[in-house]
Amino acid sequence: MAWFRKKTELQALDTERLPRHVAVIMDGNGRWAKRRMQPRALGHRAGVEAMRAIIRESSDLGIEALSFYAFSTENWSRPAGEVGALMGLLVEFFGREIDELHANRVCIRILGDVDGMPKPQRGLLIEAMERTRKNTGLKLNLAINYGSRAEIIHAVRALAARVEKGELEPTGIDETTFVETLYTAGLPEVDLLIRTSGELRLSNFLLYQCAYAELVFTDILWPDFNVAAYHGALAAYQGRERRFGGRSPSL
Ligand code: FPP
Repeated sequence: MAWFRKKTELQALDTERLPRHVAVIMDGNGRWAKRRMQPRALGHRAGVEAMRAIIRESSDLGIEALSFYAFSTENWSRPAGEVGALMGLLVEFFGREIDELHANRVCIRILGDVDGMPKPQRGLLIEAMERTRKNTGLKLNLAINYGSRAEIIHAVRALAARVEKGELEPTGIDETTFVETLYTAGLPEVDLLIRTSGELRLSNFLLYQCAYAELVFTDILWPDFNVAAYHGALAAYQGRERRFGGRSPSL
């Protein structure tokens, strides 16, 4: 079934100048729940609903790639109950959404150490990637058990192993070979990074890939980040002048 959404009043966007790759740090679920005197798990659940809306809108807009920071390698240190709730939400998400995502040609990729995930989640993540691998619509990337420094070390080791085997000369390691060894191989670099809840940090998310990303920070807590807020972030992006280290033609 095709996605259908009632168009509400949204900020006008130049469809020719949309970012190719949007990355999102979904922050503020805990505070959202606390304000309602609810357990943190409820905030994460509401966060998944916000994700669904942003996935649909990105797909409708024709954005090429969308990456969410869903679970960092540091998140294992949260209380067991909260980790358990997040693992449960992962199972629920894939169980509930996979058919619809697949029907809408969404291609799912997991960024992170899938092998280090508990068995039930690992199986679902691998199945979702395999099932949607050939889909030509939105590239939906979920960073799970992910840390950018670990990703970079992982890539360096993989390249060192190729050098050791004689497959690659050390001088053959350049930005192209390096980028193709990251979890994000084949994806465009991040154009727009959004972080919610007023925190002004990258928190070890896609550090290499965000080298020239435009950063949009908003005070909105993630569960309240809706399609209108998304359009606001995209409009802010379109208002920026991207120079990639060059000079502005107007200066
Ligand atoms: C940050 O909010 C959010 C997280 C650590 C987890 C985000 C995960 C989801 C929205 C759902 C899981 C994903 C899938 C694919 C089912 P926080 O808890 O740090 O908020 P706080 O800063 O207000 O405490």
